[in-house]
Amino acid sequence: MSIANSGITNAVVPVAGLGTRMLPATKSQPKEMLPVGKRPVVQYVIEELDRNNFQRVLFITGANKYSIENHFDPDPVLTRHLRETGKEELLEELEFERSQLHFFYTRQKTQRGLGDAILHAEEFSGTQPFAVALGDSILGRNSQSRALSHMAELFTTQKCAAVVAFEEVPLEDVSQYGIAAADKMPAPGEQFVVRDIVEKPTRDEAPSQLAVAARYIFGPQIFPALHHTAPGKGGEIQLTDAIRALVHNGEKVLGVRLPQSDTRYDIGNFEDYFKTFVEFALFDEKYGPALRQHVRQLLEQENA
Ligand code: UTP
Repeated sequence: MSIANSGITNAVVPVAGLGTRMLPATKSQPKEMLPVGKRPVVQYVIEELDRNNFQRVLFITGANKYSIENHFDPDPVLTRHLRETGKEELLEELEFERSQLHFFYTRQKTQRGLGDAILHAEEFSGTQPFAVALGDSILGRNSQSRALSHMAELFTTQKCAAVVAFEEVPLEDVSQYGIAAADKMPAPGEQFVVRDIVEKPTRDEAPSQLAVAARYIFGPQIFPALHHTAPGKGGEIQLTDAIRALVHNGEKVLGVRLPQSDTRYDIGNFEDYFKTFVEFALFDEKYGPALRQHVRQLLEQENA
C-alpha cells in the first residue's frame, strides 16, 4: 500500500524551536537551516516527505525563521542569473524547488514546546490523520527513507490513534528522549504495541532503551490529548505526554523500530551535528574522496 492508498497526504514540520543547545550558531539563523554536507537539514526532511508522496506540508515556524520560507520559494532571479552567466550546471542544485508539495506556514509565537507546536496544526489537518517530521532530524544518509509510508500504512490498516518511530539509544542517553515501554525489544524494522511512554526518564525509571525518533503519524485524537496536557518537563507542553494520554485512554498506539538504513541523525546538539556533518561529507560523491584523504592525514599527524 502506498501513501496515496493510506489516504494520508498532510505533513507537519515543526521548526519553531529556539535551538539554544546550538548557540552561537543559532543566534540569528534557524538550526534547521544549518548545512549537513551540501544541503540545509530541513531540505533533507522535505525531500523525504516528497519521496513519500505527501502533498501538503505545514511548517510551524517562529521568529528568525524566514530563511526557511525563502529556501523553498522558487527564485527566478537566481535561476536567470545562473543561466546568463553560463552556470547551468548549478541549476541542478536547485532541483528541489520544483517539488510538487504545497507549503503552508503558521507561527508559534511562544516556544512552549513541541506539543504546543503541534497544536498549531489543528485547523490545517482538521479531522484528517497527518504525519509529523521534526525539522531538525534527518532519517537515513540518502533521504530515501520509506519509514513514514510504512507507518502511514500501519496507521490505516490497524486503525491506530498514533504510530511513532523509535530507535535504540545507549542507556546513558535515555534521559534526553521520550522512552517507550514494549512487551519485548523489537527487531529493527519491526512494529510493536506502545504500552507506555515516558518523557526524559532517569536511567532507573526508563522502561526500555527505545527512544522516540522524530517521525510520527497522528489521528485527530492527538489534539484533545494535547489540549489536556499540562506543561511537563522544562515547563513545556510535551508531545510525549499527550501520546502517553492516548495510551492510558486505551487508544491503539503502535511503535516502529527504525531499520539500520533509516538511522536518525539529530541536528539539535553539537556532538551529533558534528558527527552527522562529517559522515555526510565523507560520503559525498564529489568531495568525499579528497576529504577522506585529508582526515586520514590529520589523524596520522595526531598519532605520530
Ligand atoms: P528541540 O526539542 O530540539 O527543542 O526541538 P529546541 O527548542 O529547538 O532546541 P533547544 O532545546 O533549545 O536546543 C525539536 C523540534 O521541535 C521544534 C524544533 O524546531 C525542532 O525541529 N520545536 C521545539 C518547536 O517547533 N517549538 C517548540 O516550542 C520546541
